[in-house]
Amino acid sequence: MDKILDGKKLATELNNRLKKRISDLTQETNISPTLATILVGKDPASKVYVKIKHQTCEKVGINSVMVSLPESASKSQISEEIEKLNRDVSVHAILLQLPLPEKSRKFTEFLLQKIDIYKDVDGFHYLNRGKLFYKTEQLVPCTPKGIITLLDHNGINVQGKDITIINHSNLLGKPLMVMLVNRDATVSVCHVHTKNIEKFTRNADILVVGVGKAQFITKDKIKSGAVIIDVGINRIEGRLYGDVDFEDVYDKCGSITPVPGGVGPMTVASLLQNTIIAYKTQLGLD
Ligand code: GUN
Repeated sequence: MDKILDGKKLATELNNRLKKRISDLTQETNISPTLATILVGKDPASKVYVKIKHQTCEKVGINSVMVSLPESASKSQISEEIEKLNRDVSVHAILLQLPLPEKSRKFTEFLLQKIDIYKDVDGFHYLNRGKLFYKTEQLVPCTPKGIITLLDHNGINVQGKDITIINHSNLLGKPLMVMLVNRDATVSVCHVHTKNIEKFTRNADILVVGVGKAQFITKDKIKSGAVIIDVGINRIEGRLYGDVDFEDVYDKCGSITPVPGGVGPMTVASLLQNTIIAYKTQLGLD
């Protein structure tokens, strides 16, 4: 196993494999899979992420449409756009890019629950979250799915491992916790109120970090030989840094994801896979 867990390389391989499947499916059905993204406001990072998602869709043969709404868009305007996409049979997958602008952030859950459960490629609908909880993983959140795929493909078995996740969000920490428990790992979920966080990070065979603080994890905080999954993306003076001090921990850890080129591309690959799951379900191809 390589010490560096190369998400970019694996994502490219998975996307190429998916491209072939999509080509076969499209020939069979004469219907192209289509992903719709909704971007509210002008957050520069969100714009970049959405652009990358559309570019990658194009590479593998997934149509994509973007619905761009102004920062001032109201709850009912965003909701109407979602409902239009729900009704549109040519759209198989819907993604509402998060975070929403400050003004509409309190409606996030309300709006996510408006997305048709079969088109819910983020797996954020209560029903999809419930399925995940009860081990019927179908449409599951893209970042956790990408992390699990990266671990699997590198032969890292999670069964019986002590795993610490520093993040308890609905996007990352909570769904990843469930996916890991479903795979018989022992999981600790830490956050800003956790007392003595080092106790958990130093005990971890696998440490997943998504705190949004550049180089937060240093070698004194990890167990020797640990697998380090860095979900942080921090832009400082035009350079990207993860939440882990890569150079500092490199010799001590067993393996580590780089930033960029680790979890990010795996998240996008998972989105494409979910889009095809949604497409196949809607076309009755399963
Ligand atoms: N913003 C950052 N990550 C994600 C994600 O996985 N899904 C959505 N919808 N927005 C995000």
